[in-house]
Amino acid sequence: MSIENLQIRPATIADAAFIAKNVMAAMGHDEVYSGGGEEWLQQLIPHMEIICQREDVLYSWKRSYIAEVNGIPAGSLTAYEGTDYKETQTRTFSLFDGPLNFDLDLMQDETREGEFYLDSAAVLPEFRGQGIGRALLQFGITKGKELGVDYVTLLVSPQNPKAKRLYRSLGFRDAGEVFAFGEYFQRMKMDTAEPMRIDILTVLPEMFGGFLNCSIVERAQRMGLVDIHVHNLRDWTLDKHKKVDDYPYGGCAGMVMTCEPIDRCISALKAERDYDQIIFTSPDGEQFDQPMANELSMCKNMIILCGHFKGIDWRIREHLITKEVSIGDYVLTGGELAAAVMTDAIVRIIPGVIGDEQSALSDSFQDNLLAPPVYTRPADYKGWKVPEVLLSGHEKNIRNWELEQALERTKRLRPDLLEG
Ligand code: ADE
Repeated sequence: MSIENLQIRPATIADAAFIAKNVMAAMGHDEVYSGGGEEWLQQLIPHMEIICQREDVLYSWKRSYIAEVNGIPAGSLTAYEGTDYKETQTRTFSLFDGPLNFDLDLMQDETREGEFYLDSAAVLPEFRGQGIGRALLQFGITKGKELGVDYVTLLVSPQNPKAKRLYRSLGFRDAGEVFAFGEYFQRMKMDTAEPMRIDILTVLPEMFGGFLNCSIVERAQRMGLVDIHVHNLRDWTLDKHKKVDDYPYGGCAGMVMTCEPIDRCISALKAERDYDQIIFTSPDGEQFDQPMANELSMCKNMIILCGHFKGIDWRIREHLITKEVSIGDYVLTGGELAAAVMTDAIVRIIPGVIGDEQSALSDSFQDNLLAPPVYTRPADYKGWKVPEVLLSGHEKNIRNWELEQALERTKRLRPDLLEG
């Protein structure tokens, strides 16, 4: 069956029984589908059905959406804004006169003001593995964005790593823990703000194809955490031969990029949105380093203009450029590789891009130290052994060893980093 036959529609009161079963299943009790499971749970289902028929409860049909395949209900999402969560929650649970096997007084709020909370998403067992759950979640994310909330949030059980992987791949990131329904859940959230936008201006757009479609930079775009656009400056020239350069005044060798295509392209972009930085890549610019990458990763929008030939007409640098950046003391054929280096270093530290945020924080340079050595299995390869301490499982000793190694390598290889 293809996902093309999938439709997601708002629920009606007639869907209450379906929603009730799905809410219970999403709470981690998948056995509701087989009619098995604990007795208290089975007893709750009829109560849940009556609750789903109401309009003023957490699990109302009015807050639910049905995924249908060829017109047959396959799954549902129940999701709502966190604004009046507390009173709605109190009302909802007061309506259960069946046994709840958790202490409501100990329950922390699942959601709060400013959030669109994806409370329960479930797909019938026979419809799983076709991307219906993902489509329902994406639907919820879009809904949250349309509502203009700050975050879309959800809870996931630590016992469900598969679901957590799905949520991560959609762009959710860890946001603490919540004690609810008698157990701890991982809270995950997604910022609904527009992603950072990077516009790259170049005469060689083909140089970016592979780079933008690989690895972390590709994933960041897919997750909606960054929006990267490459503009061919030849599309912005009014010259009938698509010329973007000309001979320099004064008669020195080489060609210079002309003002017009650059100015026209930048003006068109600036007419659409504000830019925090308009960067020109040049060997005589400010040296790019980790602190600059950290700072630039906070930008909402930036333009990177790639220099080429002998350079660009100085008037562009005087009137339009806000920052000139070099990636090192050597001369490249053009600024494209510099723009790619900067884009990579900036994108990988946008929150949420690297699954385990720790791993970006422990990069070399993030604390002015080179990273310590890392090892993986096997512990003994041809007699080359992994340091004993890493196999010990002793967290404190391992962290101390890593710090010692980082300090030793920095002292030896980059003492200048320890001077500042
Ligand atoms: N263009 C040419 N060389 C460069 C460099 N080292 N850094 C940035 N842009 C450049």
